[in-house]
Amino acid sequence: PAKVTFPALSEKKRNRQPIAALTAYDYSTARIADEAGIDLVLVGDSLAMVVLGYDTTLPVTVDEMLHHTRAVRRAVKRAVLVADMPFGSYHMSIDTAVENAVRFIKEAGAEAVKIEGGANRAALVQRLTEAEIPVVGHLGLTPQSVHHMGGYKVQGKTAAAADDLLEDALALEAAGAVAIVLEGIPREAASHITARLDVPTIGIGAGPDCDGQILVFHDLVNLSFAKPAKFVRQYGDAAGLFRTAIEGYVRDVETRTFPSDAESYHLSKEAASALEQ
Ligand code: KIV
Ligand code: NA
Repeated sequence: PAKVTFPALSEKKRNRQPIAALTAYDYSTARIADEAGIDLVLVGDSLAMVVLGYDTTLPVTVDEMLHHTRAVRRAVKRAVLVADMPFGSYHMSIDTAVENAVRFIKEAGAEAVKIEGGANRAALVQRLTEAEIPVVGHLGLTPQSVHHMGGYKVQGKTAAAADDLLEDALALEAAGAVAIVLEGIPREAASHITARLDVPTIGIGAGPDCDGQILVFHDLVNLSFAKPAKFVRQYGDAAGLFRTAIEGYVRDVETRTFPSDAESYHLSKEAASALEQ
């Protein structure tokens, strides 16, 4: 199957073909996602919560994000690969942000970086774009702003707030963003923004009118140990599958039914009898 690119995703938008995106954080899940036909794989900083067990996305570092991105890079052949720039890595100055973004492309093989924020990030998006680093924007419920938002709350809930989001989206597009994630906003706001942009919108908790959808892998397969949000649809029960498998293994070890003789290596008959001398 043909390699997915950002121009190909824009083409999908023009042709009204939905874009399927998913997060991945390691080789095995990224490989399955890529082989299953996911168009865009995101190494999200959500890995701070679902893989590393933190309460927020804030503690994860550039080096940790690079480590996961390299593992995913080895697996992904078809999808376009995007990495999240973590909190603190693009907030100090434009120069350090560009330096950090270059690492994701050069050291980890990402094809784009994602940063949270709107018009306040337009200058940075423009500099990254000039540096040949494609940028995916991220608007609405931006988890790195958890302290500002006072929790994980739906954003853009008034006409004025939805208009502000549209202004942010237009500013990001004008600065060169190649796609924009819309998270945790009313369907109507996402629909309005999607209609006004040339670049694709990828929604999560933003309704069905976005150009694409993204979910956190661990939410999709019930592995995130959290009450699923309204927008999550679980397509499998990995926690149940893994729990049943591991409990079975423990039982078999404890009852000495694992491993069996057939699951063991053997000496030849001659060598075995020599051993008995
Ligand atoms: O980190 C993440 O998983 C994300 C997606 C939810 C868009 O940013
Ligand atoms: Na993220």
